[in-house]
Amino acid sequence: MKPSPIIAPSILASDFSRLAEEVHAIEGSADWVHVDVMDNHFVPNLTLGLPIVQSLRKATTIPFDVHLMINDPQRWAPGYAEAGAYNVTFHAEACDDPVALAKDLRAAGAKAGLAIDRDTPVEPYLELLPYLDTVLIMTIKAGFGGQSFLPEMLQKVRDVRRRVDVNELEVRIEVDGGIAANTIEQAAEAGADAFVAGTAVYGAADPAEAIRKLRGLAAAKMGLA
Ligand code: DX5
Ligand code: ZN
Repeated sequence: MKPSPIIAPSILASDFSRLAEEVHAIEGSADWVHVDVMDNHFVPNLTLGLPIVQSLRKATTIPFDVHLMINDPQRWAPGYAEAGAYNVTFHAEACDDPVALAKDLRAAGAKAGLAIDRDTPVEPYLELLPYLDTVLIMTIKAGFGGQSFLPEMLQKVRDVRRRVDVNELEVRIEVDGGIAANTIEQAAEAGADAFVAGTAVYGAADPAEAIRKLRGLAAAKMGLA
C-alpha cells in the first residue's frame, strides 16, 4: 500500500511571538509540524532551540518534525528526541558518522532523518538508507524560508526513490524549500511523499485550506486520489 502524503508546515514562516497559536491553526489539517533549528554556524541564520521545542511540545499533539541545521548534531540531536520529537533530521554535511547518530536517535525514541543540502550529492548516502526513517532533500539552499524551488534537485529525489523501492525500504522522502501549489506536483511525481511548506501555508489567508489543497495535489500525483 502506498503511504499517503505527509504535509509538514514549517513554523519558520509563522509568527514567532504566537508560536502555540500558530501550531494550533494547523492542528487537524497538518500531519507533522516542521521545526527549523538553525545555529548561525551551519547556516547563516538563527532561529530557536531545545527550550522552545520542549515548551511547544507541551502545547500540541501534532508530531514534531525537527530539522536541525546545526553543527555538531551528535551532541544536540538526541536531546530533541528526548523532548518528544517524532522525527529528528540532521544534515549529512555536519555529521561524521550518520549511522551512529541515526542509531542514537532511534534509541532515544525518535525516527531518524538525514538531510542533503543543495550542493551535496546524494549517492554516497544511498547505502545508509536502511538506518534511516526519512531522507530530506533540500530543494533550496538551507538557511532561509521564502526561496524559489530548485527543480534540478528532483534528480536526487528520483535516485532515493529508486533505491527505496528496489530494496523495499520504509523510508519517507521529504522535500523542503519552495514547496507550494505550483511545485508540489513535480516533487510528488519524482517520488517525494513528505512535503515541508512554510510560506505556502503560513503566508496563506487560510492555512488549513492551503494544507488541504497541497495534500490533494500531492496525492493525485502519487496515485492516491
Ligand atoms: C529553510 C528551511 C525550510 C523553510 C522552508 O532552510 O529548512 O523548512 O522553512 O520555507 P519555504 O516553504 O517558505 O521555502
Ligand atoms: Zn526545514
